[in-house]
Amino acid sequence: MTVSLKGKHLVSLHDFTSEEITQILDSADLLKLRYRQGDEFLPLTGKTLAMVFQKPSLRTRMSFEAGMHRYGGHAIYLGPSDIALGKRESTPDIARNLDRFADAIMARVFQHKDVVDLAEYSAVPVINGLSDRLHPCQILADLLTIREKFGRLTGLKLAFLGDGNNVAHSLLYGCAKIGLSVSLAVPEGFDPDQQILEEAKQDAKKTGAELSVTHDLKQALADANIVYTDVWASMGQEDEKAKRAKVMQPYQLNSKALSMAPEQAIVLHCLPAHRGEEITDRVIDGPQSVVFDQAENRLHAQMSFLVQAI
Ligand code: CP
Ligand code: NVA
Repeated sequence: MTVSLKGKHLVSLHDFTSEEITQILDSADLLKLRYRQGDEFLPLTGKTLAMVFQKPSLRTRMSFEAGMHRYGGHAIYLGPSDIALGKRESTPDIARNLDRFADAIMARVFQHKDVVDLAEYSAVPVINGLSDRLHPCQILADLLTIREKFGRLTGLKLAFLGDGNNVAHSLLYGCAKIGLSVSLAVPEGFDPDQQILEEAKQDAKKTGAELSVTHDLKQALADANIVYTDVWASMGQEDEKAKRAKVMQPYQLNSKALSMAPEQAIVLHCLPAHRGEEITDRVIDGPQSVVFDQAENRLHAQMSFLVQAI
């Protein structure tokens, strides 16, 4: 039986059931197959996506814009100086304008509250294209990639190294829902948000996922099927780059760290990668890395959601 995602916002994976997430992944698999075969499939004919960006982007912009085009719709890019979210007019007013022109709104923001406000005041689905707190679209693509490589999501363990950031938060939420265990190896002072961890742990009780936070790299990597890292200083934290690099260095995903995980483990990175910082060239360009398959899956996972939501 299918669940309806019509009109649903994608602000946080915590708002989704495991059935809804599985349905998004299942339909993404089908869309990807048809996409690869070159089938003409235009379910979004006449539909418009408004894309609000307060920060730079390669994958998020390209995957949404190319995806809308491919499925018959249209995407409009609104950069930081176009609508100046929260500065030129209020966020609720922006939502109440954009929903008159667009069938869905995607927003990449600094403050998570802005995407929450957009969703509260918009009559059309709002998609979080990354906030300081969460990055749900990324994790849908990650789950799709993991399932493609292993044929399943349950009974696996993902080790995330580095900063307990927006990507780590969404991994906790998404993996807990789906029954995939997560071990975050972070330096002291860079733990994930406690509330997010607690909420994810509640969900994990139902699916059997084990969620842990450790300062011990070895512990996180032992038995890991997936080894994941992200930049040490996220967009908006550039001032802290040097300070963070110092404490995060022991958590670098290099050949030595990767050798602590089983040989069959795959390497994920949401990208952009800061080569030589959180990940070495040898690892990201090595045989275990599937980061570009992961990047492509952004399009398939997001379009699967959009086709069902609008
Ligand atoms: N992974 C990701 O969101 O990439 P961009 O910042 O390039 O969109
Ligand atoms: N944590 C990173 C993810 C980039 C896709 C950031 O927020 O900059």
